[in-house]
Amino acid sequence: MPTPSRRFDALPPYPLAGMKEVRRRLESEGVDVIDLGAGDADLAPPPAVVERLREVAGDPRFSRYPFQLGLPEFREEIAAWMERRFGVRLDPWEEILPLIGSKDGIAHLPLAFLNPGDVAVVPDPGYQAYVGGVVLAGGDPHRVALLPEHDFLVPLGELPAEVASRTRLLYLNYPNNPTTATAPDAYYREAVAFCRERDAILVHDHAYSELAFNGYRPRSVLEFDEAREVTLEFHSVSKTYNMTGWRLGWVAGDRRLVAALSRVKSFMDTGQFLGVQAAGVAALQSWATWVPDNVRTFERRRDVAAEALGRAGFAVTVPRATMYLWIPIPHGGPSGPFARRALEEEGVIVMPGAALGAGGEGFFRVALTVAEERLLDAAGRLGRLL
Ligand SMILES: Cc1ncc(COP(=O)(O)O)c(C=O)c1O
Repeated sequence: MPTPSRRFDALPPYPLAGMKEVRRRLESEGVDVIDLGAGDADLAPPPAVVERLREVAGDPRFSRYPFQLGLPEFREEIAAWMERRFGVRLDPWEEILPLIGSKDGIAHLPLAFLNPGDVAVVPDPGYQAYVGGVVLAGGDPHRVALLPEHDFLVPLGELPAEVASRTRLLYLNYPNNPTTATAPDAYYREAVAFCRERDAILVHDHAYSELAFNGYRPRSVLEFDEAREVTLEFHSVSKTYNMTGWRLGWVAGDRRLVAALSRVKSFMDTGQFLGVQAAGVAALQSWATWVPDNVRTFERRRDVAAEALGRAGFAVTVPRATMYLWIPIPHGGPSGPFARRALEEEGVIVMPGAALGAGGEGFFRVALTVAEERLLDAAGRLGRLL
């Protein structure tokens, strides 16, 4: 076997190694496994989305290379939606770029901006594409633990001066996966100022911008004064429209930053299928008539699961956004063995906090990706572990 590169060797270990085999074995033995692991709901996309894909799938114009331009109507619809939703006006041709899921842009961005020794500040626990992209680009990830005592925010004022001065990318994600935390306006202002002072880029991962409850409406960083020049905000249709497998998202922000990411991607991919981008137009157009009901489904699941897990003996904080519950492991203890017991003894898959970074140790994540009865069943089973 040829020796892997140093970058490859620096990737974090695969956290859930072995779990797939256990699941397969249990299912072959007839165990009804409930999967609350990945953030990948069991719900259908909007009917208009499916219909639009059907309409264009046989049209040869949609079968050609999309390139980085993509479908012009998709760019225009994104700009219109960003204005409706956040009051932010963007040039569809220069301040927006369609992505093959937001992960595509999040993970490739460091290739455009990091030299060896440059730092990317990444939240820990966090979506693993941040660390992966930084490491593969030869950059230096600086992991910052997200702690309850800091409201799960990255405490920017506490970064060592030597780290702050080398920071080129600051990854933030609110509403946050996995902690479910949200960020107040003052924090966004502080993050913008931090990046402006250092000529760093505020990489805001907004995958959960629409999955918010009880009337809470997350804001875009681009709404804040002087943010645009230093910001790239990543959006996704995955969670909002139950379209994880369709692989569609976009980035919005400063035109020079967008152009740099587009140039990197032009050497690596040729864009998402135009038919999927046409379906994305239908998704964005269906926001008002379709998204609120879908969000209510997650809200009911949240309430049912939080209540049942609380009754079972877990200390559950009811989140005001995302599709997750972030729960301390009762009586402490490491998250990996807890998750393994949950699967092996009770047939429930949860995400051990440590799988999302060492800062997630001591917690586990429940994804609200199955129906209410299944969540109740899972809560009962997890309670038996205590
Ligand atoms: C925080 C966060 N960002 C980004 C993504 C990626 O989404 P996409 O499907 O658009 O690549 C996910 C998916 O789980 C996520 O949890």
